[in-house]
Amino acid sequence: MCGIVGYVGVGDVGNILLSGLKNLEYRGYDSAGIALHNNDRIDIFKAAGKLENLYELVSDQQDKLAATSGIGHIRWATHGKATTKNAHPHLSNNGQLALVHNGIIENYKSLREELEREGYVFLSETDTEVAAHLFEREYKKWGTLEAAVSSGVKYLKGAFAFCVIHQNEPEKIVAVRQNVPLIVGLGEGENFVASDIPAIVGKVRKIVYLNDGEMATVSRNAVSVYDFNGRKVDYRTEYVDMSPDVISKRGYPHFMLKEIHEQQDIVRHLLQDAYADGQKIPVLQKVHIEEAAKAEKIEIIACGTSLHAAAVAGFVFEEWLKIPVSVIAASEYIYRCCLTDEKTLTIGISQSGETADTITAVKRAKEHGAHILVLTNREDSSIVRYADSRLPLKAGIEVSVAATKSYTAQLTCLYLLGLALAAERRSLSLDELGQLHDELRQLPTKMEKVLNEAENVKAAAEKLKNYHQMIYIARGINLPTAMEGALKLKEISYVNANGYAAGELKHGPIALLDENMPVMAVLTPGNRVYDKMISNCEEARARHSLLVGVSFDEDKTAERLFDLLLTVPPVTEVFSPLLLALPLQLLAYHIADLLGREVDRPRNLAKSVTVE
Ligand code: M6R
Repeated sequence: MCGIVGYVGVGDVGNILLSGLKNLEYRGYDSAGIALHNNDRIDIFKAAGKLENLYELVSDQQDKLAATSGIGHIRWATHGKATTKNAHPHLSNNGQLALVHNGIIENYKSLREELEREGYVFLSETDTEVAAHLFEREYKKWGTLEAAVSSGVKYLKGAFAFCVIHQNEPEKIVAVRQNVPLIVGLGEGENFVASDIPAIVGKVRKIVYLNDGEMATVSRNAVSVYDFNGRKVDYRTEYVDMSPDVISKRGYPHFMLKEIHEQQDIVRHLLQDAYADGQKIPVLQKVHIEEAAKAEKIEIIACGTSLHAAAVAGFVFEEWLKIPVSVIAASEYIYRCCLTDEKTLTIGISQSGETADTITAVKRAKEHGAHILVLTNREDSSIVRYADSRLPLKAGIEVSVAATKSYTAQLTCLYLLGLALAAERRSLSLDELGQLHDELRQLPTKMEKVLNEAENVKAAAEKLKNYHQMIYIARGINLPTAMEGALKLKEISYVNANGYAAGELKHGPIALLDENMPVMAVLTPGNRVYDKMISNCEEARARHSLLVGVSFDEDKTAERLFDLLLTVPPVTEVFSPLLLALPLQLLAYHIADLLGREVDRPRNLAKSVTVE
C-alpha cells in the first residue's frame, strides 16, 4: 500500500504535506513526492528511497514550498521499480494536472495502449500514469476537474484512491475512492485528504470517511461529496479521538520496541472490557454469539502474523469447541475447492483490515453463506464491510511494519471468543470456564514480568547476531509461536529463519544442522509433547547446533540442555503462546537493531499489502 495526503489552506503547504507523509511512512518507503499548486503552475518534487531523501531535496528550496494547495505520496512499489521516475505525483503531458494514487489499475495496459495511440507520452512504468493522461483527456472534454475525474474513473478497473489537482483550479483537490481507504479532514479555513488518520492527527478534529464510489471536492472552506455520476451525497462527519501521542515513539528508539512494551496494557484492557461487571463469561459486544455458535465448522483465514494467531486459535477452538477448524492462508483459500456454506463460521483476521488476500477470501466465504466474523485493529477498514460480527483488537495504531502488539491482541480476542463460544455451545463446563477465566486474567501481570525482566534477551541477541540462519522448532500449540518467532526475525533482520514442526526436523531440515545453524526450541514443561521436544533438541545438539530455548522459569531440564535460555512464568499450556511470543519478539528486535537494520521499516515490506 501507499500513503496519500492532500492539503488546501493558508498553512505552509509543502511542510504540512511532508509531515503528513512522515506519519504515513509505515505504508511504504520506496519513494516519495509532493506536487504544489503555485497559482499559475504546479511544481513537483520527487525522490527515490526513504522520505529523508525528499526532505533533503527540498531542504534548500524552502521558498518553493509555499503554495495554495498540494498533494503528497509515499510509495510501496507494485508496478515499476522504486525510482524517481516512477515516484508519484504523476503529471499529465500538458503539465497542468497532477495526481497521486494508492491501489492498482488493473486495466492499465489496454488504457496505456489506447492513450499512446491518441498521442500521449508515458514517462514511467507505473499503472498510475494512465490516470494522469486519462484525466487530462477528459478535462479537455468537460472543462472542470470534478467532471474530468468522474468521467475518467469510469474507464478504470481495480482499486484506487486518488488526489488530483489542476493548474486552472487553484485551491481545489478532487479526491476519489474505490476499494482503497481515503478520508477528508475538516479544519478551520483549511481541509485535508489522507489515506489514514495519522497523516492529519492533531491537525483536525472532524473527518469524513469516503465510501467506495465516492469523490470529494475539497477547497479551503468547503467539502462536497458526489457519487461517480456527479450526484451529491450527504456525508457524515466523525470525531477523531486519536491523540498525536499514538504516533510518537514515547522515548523508545523504535516503534517496534514501544509497541512490544504496550502489550500487557492492551491485553489487560481487552480482558477488562470483556469481563466487565464481574461476569465469568466474556461478553463480546459486536459478536452475534448465538448465531456464530450454531456453526458446524470453523474456518480461520489470515496472512502473515495474523495467520499465526489463527493457527493458535485452530488448536484452541478444536479443544474447547470440539468441532472441525481449518486454518487457511487467505492467498490459498481462494484457490481451493470451497466447502464453505451457511453452517460455517468464517473468521477473517487482519490487523490492518486492508490486506487484499484476506478481503477477497472473506468476500468469497460470505458469498457461500458463512457467518463472517472479522478481527481487526481498524474498525474503519475495508474488511469490516463484509462482517456479520466484529471483534475489535483495540491495540491502537501499530506503526512498526513488524506486527507485535496486534498479534497478542489477536490471541487475546481469540481466547475470549473461544470461551464465549464454548459457553454458548456448552462444550466446556462452568468449572472449566471459571478456571480458564482465572488463568487468563493473570496474563497481563505475567506479560509485564517478561517485558520488565528481559535483559538476558539482549545478551542472547549479542551471541546470535552473527549467524546467518536459524531454525525454530516446536510441537502442538506452540508451532505457530515458533513460526511467528522465525517470521519476526527474518522480516526485520534478514536472517534466514524458518519455523518447523519439531517432529518434521528429522524428515529433511536436519540436513541443514551444523555449528552454523542455531536451533531455537519453543517448549513448555509438563505437557504431552515436552519429552519429545527434548529428544528433538538432543538430536540437534548431536549435530553441533547451538541450542537456544524458550521455556518456563525453573525448567531444570532446559537449564541443563540449552546453551541460551529465555524464560517466561509458567502458565496453562493453552495460553502459553501469548507469553512465549514476547521474548521471541524482543530477540528479533535486538538482533535486527544490533545488526543496524531499519527495524521499523524493513526492506521490501509495507504495513499492509493491498495487492493479491
Ligand atoms: O494487516 P494484516 O494483519 O492483514 O497483515 C497480514 C500480514 O501482511 C502481516 O502480518 C505481515 O506478515 C507483518 N509484516 C508481520 O509482522
